[in-house]
Amino acid sequence: MCGIVGVLGKNEVSPIIVEALKRLEYRGYDSAGIATVNDGKLDRRRAVGKLVNLSDLLVHEPLAGKAGIGHTRWATHGAPSVVNAHPHKSGPVAVVHNGIIENFKELRADLDKDGYGTKTDTDTETVVLLTHRFLDNGASPRDAAEQTIALLEGAFALCFLFDGEDDLMIAARKGSPLAVGHGDGEMYVGSDAIALAPMTNRITYLEEGDRAVLTRTSLEIFDAQGMLANRPVKTLSLDEARVEKAGHKHFMAKEIAEQPIVLADALQAYSTPDGKGIELPNGTLDFTKCDRITMVACGTANLACQVAKYWFEQLAGLPVDVDIASEFRYRKPVISDKSYALFVSQSGETADTLAALRYAKDRAAMILSVVNVPESSIARESDLALPIMAGIEVGVASTKAFTCQLLALAALALQAGHQRGHLDDAAMAAHMADLNLLPGVLNQSLAQEKAIKRVAHKISTAQDVLFLGRGAMYPLALEGALKLKEISYIHAEGYASGELKHGPIALIDKSVPVVVLAPTDDLFDKTVSNMQEVMARGGKVVLISDAKGVREAGDGVWETVVMPQISPFLAPILYAVPAQLLAYHTAVAKGTDVDQPRNLAKSVTVE
Ligand code: AGP
Repeated sequence: MCGIVGVLGKNEVSPIIVEALKRLEYRGYDSAGIATVNDGKLDRRRAVGKLVNLSDLLVHEPLAGKAGIGHTRWATHGAPSVVNAHPHKSGPVAVVHNGIIENFKELRADLDKDGYGTKTDTDTETVVLLTHRFLDNGASPRDAAEQTIALLEGAFALCFLFDGEDDLMIAARKGSPLAVGHGDGEMYVGSDAIALAPMTNRITYLEEGDRAVLTRTSLEIFDAQGMLANRPVKTLSLDEARVEKAGHKHFMAKEIAEQPIVLADALQAYSTPDGKGIELPNGTLDFTKCDRITMVACGTANLACQVAKYWFEQLAGLPVDVDIASEFRYRKPVISDKSYALFVSQSGETADTLAALRYAKDRAAMILSVVNVPESSIARESDLALPIMAGIEVGVASTKAFTCQLLALAALALQAGHQRGHLDDAAMAAHMADLNLLPGVLNQSLAQEKAIKRVAHKISTAQDVLFLGRGAMYPLALEGALKLKEISYIHAEGYASGELKHGPIALIDKSVPVVVLAPTDDLFDKTVSNMQEVMARGGKVVLISDAKGVREAGDGVWETVVMPQISPFLAPILYAVPAQLLAYHTAVAKGTDVDQPRNLAKSVTVE
């Protein structure tokens, strides 16, 4: 996924665009570039790697102009390089793009025939070459852009800038989000509202298929049918736009530390005023009408679904299928017309998850989503989009969003259990009492950071790490492995504890740390047996359990982390914290880029 920005300003725009791109860098950072209209002519600067390289370049080669577009790239087609960096330019037109043009090869062949040869490996270059050809054939900039967009297949958010047009930008949205910002005699375009926050909090979100024609004092939006559309101007709260590290070394550290606070917000949003029951923040659901739940997501969000499967089945007697979004629709799943389809996504823009939602639409009885961005595409295409209240999450590795997703899902499972008669009032009251303790208990777990940091330093030299868990802690083992590998680049795998002896135990020797996530629940003794099988083969076990568990099974292990006591129901939420902190401190010890790990992006808006 990439970040795009456009500014029609009253002053020089390069510094404004760089500042906006900084707030989008979490979306991708393989290269960055800016193009401006400078004395009526297009001019541009581009640099490979992080945005700081572009900033350095601009110091030595300043870029003037009061109209400009900027881009920070996560490479899809074409390796990270200056040549492949956006903005792409051909003759009198420059473009920045987020998404994938799926028919670029056919279009490129046709352009080659007309002498519009390509100079890059990118799909985006096709857009500028098409527009250039339409301009050469006499089309106006608006018509050239419109005719180009009509030929494109795939997903795109685009922003066009033209020679000689100091007060014109054309933007288009299809499958990738795009927002317009309203300034005072200025106008902006951005991949999201965060990018535009330093300039304005007055935002218009483009809808699927929209095109926008902007000048400093006007905005015309045309819908997919070419009709003038009247999209609302929303005023965002400053909190939504203000994103700072608040004294932490990394956004990830801040977001881990924020969890008690945001979980308390989420808990309040999902509880009845007396805190004794569940009440959804923005709608009602009747789980007695549902015979099955199909849950679909990617990455960490998918692991939240895997935890929730245990909750819905054990607390509500509801069968649950969990699918990886990129596999879901190709499996051609049979979806009962009495089922609820539930999509979990922090960004609400993950292309695989959005595509899965669209497959389930008109098949399932209801489309639900659990998202962190209420204005996102997945939210807007759901019958009911439930917010997780995590606040902006900038770190590419999902932390507070994961625990807030789990809280929202736990609330849904409790409500389903109560509505379907599986949980009587007393059981509900007991679970709610546990839930109300969660923010405080989670806050206590942060006190283990020093112990976890010690463990992290020991595992930071490992080549391979295994994570083990049973029951609802098995998805936590998968999450611990995902966190570790995505930010420290150490190979890690999560396993159901009982599965180790069916092959993976061959991996065990004294060079392989094995992290065991095991609260003292009904499965604890079985997990301890599996742990001892590992220790008998020289494996170095890190036991993460509560005081009772460490007392009973801590002898002989390599390291222990003592967690606060919590009900087994909520242990998966609590044990996310040591998994997150272990990955964080391992990555810091290894010196990797914690907030922007290599090859990753915060939300993958391409399939
Ligand atoms: C989480 O640590 C990962 N960065 C990634 O797996 C993420 O959870 C996944 O890409 C889904 O993103 P979404 O929640 O925005 O849909």
